[in-house]
Amino acid sequence: MDIKELYAKHQKLVGKQVELIARVRNHRQGKSIGFLVLNDGTSINDVQVVYKADVAGFSKISEARVAAIVAVTGTVVLTPGKPQPFELQATKCELLAQCVEDYPLQKKEHSPEFLREIAHLRARTKTFQAIFKIRSAASFAIHQFFNSNDFLYVQTPIITENDAEGAGEAFIVTTRTDANYAEDFFGKKAALSVSGQLNAEAYAQAFKKVYTFGPTFRAENSYTSRHASEFWMIEPEVAFSDLKDNIELIEAMLKAVIRYLFENVSEELEFCDKNLEPGLIEKLEKVRDAKFVVTEYAQVIEILQTAIANGHVFEDNNVYFGLDLGTEHERYLCEVVNKAPTFVINYPKEIKAFYMKLNADQKTVAAVDLLVPGIGELVGGSQREDDYDKLIARCHEMKIDPKELGWYNDLRKFGYYKSAGFGLGFERLIMYVTGAQNIRDVIAFPRTPKNLLF
Ligand code: 4AD
Ligand code: MG
Repeated sequence: MDIKELYAKHQKLVGKQVELIARVRNHRQGKSIGFLVLNDGTSINDVQVVYKADVAGFSKISEARVAAIVAVTGTVVLTPGKPQPFELQATKCELLAQCVEDYPLQKKEHSPEFLREIAHLRARTKTFQAIFKIRSAASFAIHQFFNSNDFLYVQTPIITENDAEGAGEAFIVTTRTDANYAEDFFGKKAALSVSGQLNAEAYAQAFKKVYTFGPTFRAENSYTSRHASEFWMIEPEVAFSDLKDNIELIEAMLKAVIRYLFENVSEELEFCDKNLEPGLIEKLEKVRDAKFVVTEYAQVIEILQTAIANGHVFEDNNVYFGLDLGTEHERYLCEVVNKAPTFVINYPKEIKAFYMKLNADQKTVAAVDLLVPGIGELVGGSQREDDYDKLIARCHEMKIDPKELGWYNDLRKFGYYKSAGFGLGFERLIMYVTGAQNIRDVIAFPRTPKNLLF
């Protein structure tokens, strides 16, 4: 039986025999009695097993080390007043797979840095069990949200010829050592996708509401706790919709995910609240029930300048219209000023991607970033430029050869009316809903600059 099932049914099973196969989390032996704490990964909760000297398999089981796999048959007994609601009194024990003595994950606490070096084992800890259960549930919640709102799930390519964000951060895909791309596998330069957006836009024009949810690759040299070189991104795209609709969609999606987590992984959230971020649950309840704030980029600059005038010191105190906001500015805005998730809209065109719709002021574009306390940018999106000539002009301004994106630009010629969408960094969302402090701890096998293990 799975431990999850045993927890759900233990009241009915009192006095009955059950059988478990699980890993030893802890083992205390006496001469005539032993206590095993077992976990099989299906639940964050452990099961305590008491065995006595007369149990079948006693001598073998008493040798079981931490991380060994055992099979236990035992009677369910309630344990009122103890931390765990029940235990098993063993009638039969079997040691199925012993673990070596120098198992790296002994009972004591380990630092996140050490655990990253043993990413093949860290998933066995309670912290990682909680984070990865939440991650799995959040992923399902996102699919459920879009599915129940009639979005088409489209899988966009991972190998592409376009650098969708125009930021020059794509990893090259090649079978050659000489950078002779004309002779290369595809007969041209190929790269790993930095965003599925451009392809998603084509599908939004066919299906109206679409989303992608896939791996994304960026060769950014950012050694921060919020950047990974390989991460997962959710990118919805909605035809015939504008920036305001986009903002509503972001807010609705986030709240739906949080509701789903409360309904389905509340024990794991409680664990994170106790161990990773005290107050996490209250924070998420507030976000679920809050109306997010919307602030114009120009206003943000004024707010920051006022803060500086009043003596606040940022690492970068040179704040002017046109500045690409740093994380410290973003966090000040949502943590100190608004104390809530904050949408910043209408950024200067110079600091945003070429495909964003130019506003009537000719200076700003219809962009939106969602900033959240503790993280900074969680979501980036925009209404897309739907005017062919303006799009081409923007390509030139941003030093992008429009010919390389011919098919994308051409969509504007074939009946293209208002399209908007966004990208949600999935790992940043998981950091936000678990309280994990580092992106390396919310992705199973993280890839970051100078770090490619496993
Ligand atoms: O703001 P970004 O670059 O937007 C896009 O890629 C658009 N194509 C999205 C769209 O409109 N369809 O990235 C979107 C989000 C960011 O807000 C951030 O959460 C996450 O992706 N992100 C990263 N997450 C982890 N590591 C990185 N290196 C990230 N870069 C971006
Ligand atoms: Mg962005």
